[in-house]
Amino acid sequence: MSSLSSPRFRVRAGGRLRGSVRVPGDKSISHRSIMLGSLAEGVTRVTGFLEGEDSLATLNAFLQMGVRIEGPDQGRVTIHGVGMHGLKQPEKPLDLGNSGTSMRLLSGLLAGQGLELTLIGDSSLSSRPMRRVTDPLAAMGARIEATARGTAPLHIRPVESLTGIDYAMPMASAQVKSSLLLAGLYAQGETCVTEPAPTRDHTERMLRGFGYGVRREGNRICLTGGGRLTACDLDVPADISSATFFMVGASIAEGSDLTLEHVGINPTRDGVIGILRLMGADIEILNPRDVGGEPVADLRVRSAPLKGIRIPEALVPLAIDEFPALFIAAACAEGETVLTGAEELRVKETDRIQVMADGLLALGVQAEPTPDGIRIQGGPIAGGQVDSKGDHRIAMSFAMAALRAGGEILIDDCANVNTSFPGFAALAAGAGLQIETEHD
Ligand code: S3P
Repeated sequence: MSSLSSPRFRVRAGGRLRGSVRVPGDKSISHRSIMLGSLAEGVTRVTGFLEGEDSLATLNAFLQMGVRIEGPDQGRVTIHGVGMHGLKQPEKPLDLGNSGTSMRLLSGLLAGQGLELTLIGDSSLSSRPMRRVTDPLAAMGARIEATARGTAPLHIRPVESLTGIDYAMPMASAQVKSSLLLAGLYAQGETCVTEPAPTRDHTERMLRGFGYGVRREGNRICLTGGGRLTACDLDVPADISSATFFMVGASIAEGSDLTLEHVGINPTRDGVIGILRLMGADIEILNPRDVGGEPVADLRVRSAPLKGIRIPEALVPLAIDEFPALFIAAACAEGETVLTGAEELRVKETDRIQVMADGLLALGVQAEPTPDGIRIQGGPIAGGQVDSKGDHRIAMSFAMAALRAGGEILIDDCANVNTSFPGFAALAAGAGLQIETEHD
């Protein structure tokens, strides 16, 4: 949320990143752990849960719907599942803050519950497109009212039943896919979603972990409604999207040698490693292992000279949240980096193409936004002041840019860093970033 009292980062120029850090738990998996744990029969114990505002918004929504949840306490959450039909009508609207994942996934999960609910969010979330979920959910028989612009608040009305659909998504969105699959749990017959390109598959993996059959035939994912979920234990890996700021920081700051511990490297999320390696980054994948159905590894990153590239479009959905940080890598690379096929970046927490271009230009970097991407010419980064516009990932990306800047960088409106990465400034300072948080 943008507000006058939102803190500012002041980051001194230079430095390097060294040592070992474990970034907080994966945001996508944390959301899903609360959702499926709440609907399961039995007690689900989660470790490594992200205690960020977004996943806490999901947790609070289920508390409001009568689920008993203990924690979070140092990443440990215990969820006493109420079964598929045990949620209670909340007394107030469910406030999902800044969290698009909460709103889109809950729209599907709640569409067929027979409850009457309202989902609200902050000003950023209230301007993000929701028809991408409400239209296909309506085709399943859901009754969800949005504003005339297709935005939140969303009013969900009770319906008798939902019917499965066979839906070809117009955009590569895991949120849309997950929303429809979660609605499909309550639908008659089969619900199938075809994705135009692979998107993160945490919902499918976790449903299987809770004993629910999910079939994948090529790019089509199907499940049959009417089944049950059985509680299980979940270990949430560190979030590769949060690790990204450190991967970029260590790559661009000479003399860096940083190990990121226990990072989720699910192949539908690891596009950032591929893109950074194409740019010349030195990233070693150590000790790969499987943790509860999700691949995990430690990542050792040493500084390396980067070169500009044309980013392969096939990698875009696999790195969709990592572009603000990758634009900083591009600014530090030799030559031009060109991104295309990434129009989805314009409907994230902010228009990430425009807000990043504005910030890069303010720091003297040549950046030219295009409708579906950006062109960035590598070169010196000057000190200066940038506005994150309340976008957590933009704030953290510009913080890392200071490692290569000619002067101090001030970043405004950083409160929302807490949505995905509480403790970012302290963790980054421990690794070598000269960062301070200022409150007016
Ligand atoms: C998410 C999917 C992505 C991503 C978001 C989390 C998820 O959004 O940007 O941060 O947990 O399913 P889209 O599916 O809308 O691209």
